[in-house]
Amino acid sequence: MSVHSEIKRVTTNTLRDMKSKNEKIACLTAYDFSMATLVDAAGIEVILVGDSASNVMAGHETTLPITLDQMIYHAQGVVRAVKRALVVVDLPFGSYQGNSEEALRSAIKIMKESGGHAVKMEGGKEIEESIARVLSAGIPVMGHLGLTPQSIYKFGTYTVRAKEEQEAQMLKENALLLESLGCFGVVLEKIPAKLATEVSQSLQIPTIGIGAGAGCDGQILVIHDMLGINKDFSPRFLRRYADLAAIMNDAFTQYKNDVKASDFPNKSESY
Ligand code: KIV
Repeated sequence: MSVHSEIKRVTTNTLRDMKSKNEKIACLTAYDFSMATLVDAAGIEVILVGDSASNVMAGHETTLPITLDQMIYHAQGVVRAVKRALVVVDLPFGSYQGNSEEALRSAIKIMKESGGHAVKMEGGKEIEESIARVLSAGIPVMGHLGLTPQSIYKFGTYTVRAKEEQEAQMLKENALLLESLGCFGVVLEKIPAKLATEVSQSLQIPTIGIGAGAGCDGQILVIHDMLGINKDFSPRFLRRYADLAAIMNDAFTQYKNDVKASDFPNKSESY
């Protein structure tokens, strides 16, 4: 029996069971093998290979430029690392909005080439057909409502969404639609906590919040943000669990000083 087979993997059913037992779901993003190894070992249930890789890994201003092949490259490293977590991979901008056939082709490419376990798609009614088509191929889909960063140029700002009644109503309807289509969960990004709680209580499938308050069934953060690698990004919803920027800067500075002082490598570090 292999070591892997002894570990009980997280599946979409696990997440639904957790919701029914009121057990909160912990999710983080990861984009490479080393980080995903650590995240998985810590017992995080869901690892999202987010298109936020476009920002934190590639340095783009938005999530729009990242390509399907680049997402697959990131997801491959994560999948190779993970023994337990459910790996969800973002369908990037431009890979599913055109029509449902394109959506299916993109989702199949991700599943085949990365080995990920599910995909995430931003939007509700406007991509209903595409979501249904991907689901019909047996590919689990996680929805994403509220602040959907792939639509940043439509919104014009990263501020809280659905504060007005009309948008809030639309979001509630979209959440129910995603559930009825067969999505296994839905990310709620940057919406009022009261609305997120209401949506969470109206669904059987789990909601995963980011900037959506404590009433969601789980939470997700971008790993670079929660580790304090990104010093310039400090929205109200972000809790920093480490100050890695400072720790890394100390290490780099110390290394530089040791090299310049001919202190590194010493005898015991040489052959
Ligand atoms: O791309 C991403 O990291 C995300 C999360 C913020 C939910 O979509």
